[in-house]
Amino acid sequence: MRVIAIAVVGRNGVIGDGHDQPFKFREDFERFKATTMGHPIIMGRHTHEAIGGYLPGRTTIVVSRDPEQIELSDKESAPSFAVGSVEMALELAEALDDVCFVCGGGQVYRNMWDHLTELDITEVHDEAPGEITFPDVDPDEWRCLVREPRGEFDFTRRFPITHTERLTLVPVGPDDLDDWARLYTAPDLPEVPMKRHMAGIQANVEHWLNDGLGYWLVRDSLHDAPIGVGGVRRSKELPDGAWSLYYRFAPEAQGQGYAEEMARAGIAALQLIDRDAELRAAVRPGNAASMAIATGLGLQLDEEHDDVQVYTRKVSEL
Ligand SMILES: NC(=O)c1ccc[n+]([C@@H]2O[C@H](COP(=O)([O-])OP(=O)(O)OC[C@H]3O[C@@H](n4cnc5c(N)ncnc54)[C@H](OP(=O)(O)O)[C@@H]3O)[C@@H](O)[C@H]2O)c1
Repeated sequence: MRVIAIAVVGRNGVIGDGHDQPFKFREDFERFKATTMGHPIIMGRHTHEAIGGYLPGRTTIVVSRDPEQIELSDKESAPSFAVGSVEMALELAEALDDVCFVCGGGQVYRNMWDHLTELDITEVHDEAPGEITFPDVDPDEWRCLVREPRGEFDFTRRFPITHTERLTLVPVGPDDLDDWARLYTAPDLPEVPMKRHMAGIQANVEHWLNDGLGYWLVRDSLHDAPIGVGGVRRSKELPDGAWSLYYRFAPEAQGQGYAEEMARAGIAALQLIDRDAELRAAVRPGNAASMAIATGLGLQLDEEHDDVQVYTRKVSEL
């Protein structure tokens, strides 16, 4: 399940004074409503009390150490639950949907931090008074893929940077155009103009936004150098929303086990957000290295054609 923290945050990190939140932008309220509509929303008792009711069209899950004290909604249009821990809240949300929103406040953002798969933050350019803050967002841990300026504030979307033993896996965004273009300029590939590379990156950003995962720019952590592109994406052509594994490494980075290391991180990320998914890897017959990676990961040969072999497996079995 995708677990998305959504918040409106002042330049000084403030989100509230304990009773209310200081920012009242109509466009932000409307976006919050449209984004969360139909999905479970998780919030702490203080935030629930600050809202003073239940938001229609969404299932509210209130977290409290004494959940019995929470008066639940009696409206069918605004179902509600109260639970005693963030883990119980997540378990319940996962039974209801494959996306949930963590709506604060300060304590609940912090107690959920390790479970978050995305940040959806409205960054306000002004400071606000108050003691309650959003946790610090470390730019080495979160990649901002979208920033939409809206005058007094920006809408932003961030996704996690993943670290493996030797690699730093950074969700690919527009800032990576030069590295992306270099990795796709090779004798085995047709030459393409920069705007086609940018279109490839934009398509990748769309995958992150729509499905919660997409390709990474793969960096060698030791030398902080880009060595490849890859990851998992939900394939539009495949049945049942199956996911595809993909990678492309610079020639000097091949043969060192990087692809398998990256692929294992892709599987781990997929297990978090879509446990029931099927993963596929398409391999050209005769590509012994890719076949070894597919089978080494636990994928099984499923289809064999003249020009492609398809290896698949349920993510939960990997
Ligand atoms: N700007 C924004 O986007 C935004 C969004 C949301 C909220 N806010 C603001 O944030 C403020 C509220 O934040 P807050 O930090 O004071 O409170 P909060 O996180 O909303 O709620 C805290 C309460 O949640 C329960 N809780 C927290 N962690 C728990 C855990 N691990 N297990 C069980 N229960 C847990 C506890 O309830 P019990 O005491 O009942 O045990 C705790 O007292 C308000 O000012 C609100 O307006 C702003």
